[in-house]
Amino acid sequence: MGKFLLVPLMAVALFGADGATLYKKCAGCHGPHGEKKALGKSAIIKDMSKEEIYKALLEYKAGKRNVAGMGPLMKGQVANMSDEELKAIAEYIGK
Ligand code: HEC
Repeated sequence: MGKFLLVPLMAVALFGADGATLYKKCAGCHGPHGEKKALGKSAIIKDMSKEEIYKALLEYKAGKRNVAGMGPLMKGQVANMSDEELKAIAEYIGK
């Protein structure tokens, strides 16, 4: 029994957060490939660099970013995610 629980835990430890899986909850607003203006407001995030996206997500998490008046909404999206998870998302969706 113990073994079966251990294997997925080790996979997470070895490979870190999975950006593709984490991004799924963002796709509804930003599009499956980051190609949409979320709610007609945000930048098209697939055109942002990985660094820009990571920085923006950290700023939302800290409550310091508000580009189109919807910063608090984005804060709610990322508030419970670790910096490592945000980095994995940025790596996945950024150019
Ligand atoms: C409910 C819709 C919604 C969801 C879900 C959502 N976003 Fe957003 N996102 C927005 C809106 C609206 C903005 C513009 C916020 C503002 O005014 O600063 C935005 C802004 C952004 C920006 C900055 C773009 C810019 O204009 O500078 C990034 C990067 C981003 N979102 C990534 C994500 C990621 C990654 C997720 C998933 C963890 C996510 N979003 C989930 C609606 C959403």
